[in-house]
Amino acid sequence: MIGSGYVGLVSGACFADFGHSVVCIDKDVKKIAALEQGQIPIYEPGLDELVAENVKAGRLSFTTEFAGPVGDADVVFIAVGTPSRRGDGHADLSYVYAVAREIAAAVTGFTVVVTKSTVPVGTGDEVERIIRETNPAADVAVVSNPEFLREGAAIADFKKPDRIVVGLEDERAREPMVEVYRPLYLNYSPIVFTSRRSSELIKYAANAFLAMKITFINEVADLCEQVGADVQAVSRGIGLDNRIGSKFLHAGPGYGGSCFPKDTLALVKTAQDHGSPIRLIETTVAINDQRKRAMARKVIQACGGDVRGKLIAVLGLTFKPRTDDMREAPSLAIIQALQDAGARIVAHDPVGMEAAKPLLDERVTYAASPYDAAAGANALVLVTEWDQFRALDLGRLKSAMETPVLVDLRNVYSREDAARHGFSYTSVGRGV
Ligand code: UGA
Repeated sequence: MIGSGYVGLVSGACFADFGHSVVCIDKDVKKIAALEQGQIPIYEPGLDELVAENVKAGRLSFTTEFAGPVGDADVVFIAVGTPSRRGDGHADLSYVYAVAREIAAAVTGFTVVVTKSTVPVGTGDEVERIIRETNPAADVAVVSNPEFLREGAAIADFKKPDRIVVGLEDERAREPMVEVYRPLYLNYSPIVFTSRRSSELIKYAANAFLAMKITFINEVADLCEQVGADVQAVSRGIGLDNRIGSKFLHAGPGYGGSCFPKDTLALVKTAQDHGSPIRLIETTVAINDQRKRAMARKVIQACGGDVRGKLIAVLGLTFKPRTDDMREAPSLAIIQALQDAGARIVAHDPVGMEAAKPLLDERVTYAASPYDAAAGANALVLVTEWDQFRALDLGRLKSAMETPVLVDLRNVYSREDAARHGFSYTSVGRGV
């Protein structure tokens, strides 16, 4: 498993747990040293135990050494990062291609090389070309096997996938791929075998569709506010139609994270480059960008139209609960916009405060609990729906605050609950 980041580490640990012998490779000496000490560089529930168990059982190990483990392997996974390239939004494939060159030099015997990183259509062809060019004697089959893990639920997603997608051009890779996923295959998880290009596109199309679905309900939420309807009722009412499905219909401050923003942008670029623009996703990207600032305006409005000098308590900084990931978190843009409007910010997050600090303005202060954050605040803004924020003592919060304004960007509370405790309450898409 080349790359011990989020996808590599979770996949490596889960494959080891299936009984395979897995070596996780990373260039980062510090990261590997920490992993060897049992320290997991990311926050993912259950991952530390899974890693520890499999290391103890001798099925999982970590190294910075490349050639030996790759030479021994039947299947080599590429799970390195593909960040957005500065300037043009394309996925930056330099890490993937560098790894392909190293693999070419290290493989011995027939080896299946699998891209697990999210890569644009055609990357598998290029990986294969690079390997053949670097080492014409290399006997490899290059496969696409995208990952559909959600942060915070990655282990469950890996072990109970809705589907496994395998894109291959060389039939010799089919049996090793079935073998790698045998426990899931025996559990009737569907495996979709398809061409490499289709597989690569499935990943982007899936993420883009989900991002579009969220954006759709966010716009419906805005309309609900205008016409006096309730977006949660609308979500339920449409989601019960199996053709639509109830998931990813929660209105909120816009999607964030390391995947949707990057992947939607990369799909837009690929489509434009091929003269086949996907306008729905172009629009999705634009709407989602605007939404974060719109959420800040909502807060300002809830505060009577002016936040100059006011203290605003922000609950939840990470892009979603059960992760410490701050990438593209809506909180970043919302806090920035509130500061631009003259507000003072105090923030609390159960896990993400350390990761947030370097990304936020130094004037932001941090509180050890939601109640500490509320002390003297003029408004409380719930940005990320951590479970810890679902049953807050509203009475206690109110008595700590200067003015009882609650802006609930995740629709965790009800207007009635908030009103009972004397809060002026604003949520998303609940215009009733
Ligand atoms: C997403 C996909 O869900 C995974 O299937 C995929 O493998 C992953 O990207 C990836 O490409 O690696 P993730 O970014 O971890 O996973 O997070 P999600 O749970 O999908 O949430 C993404 C964003 O959408 C969050 O900001 C979340 O708050 C938002 N969201 C999600 C909503 O606003 N409403 C919803 O109904 C659902």
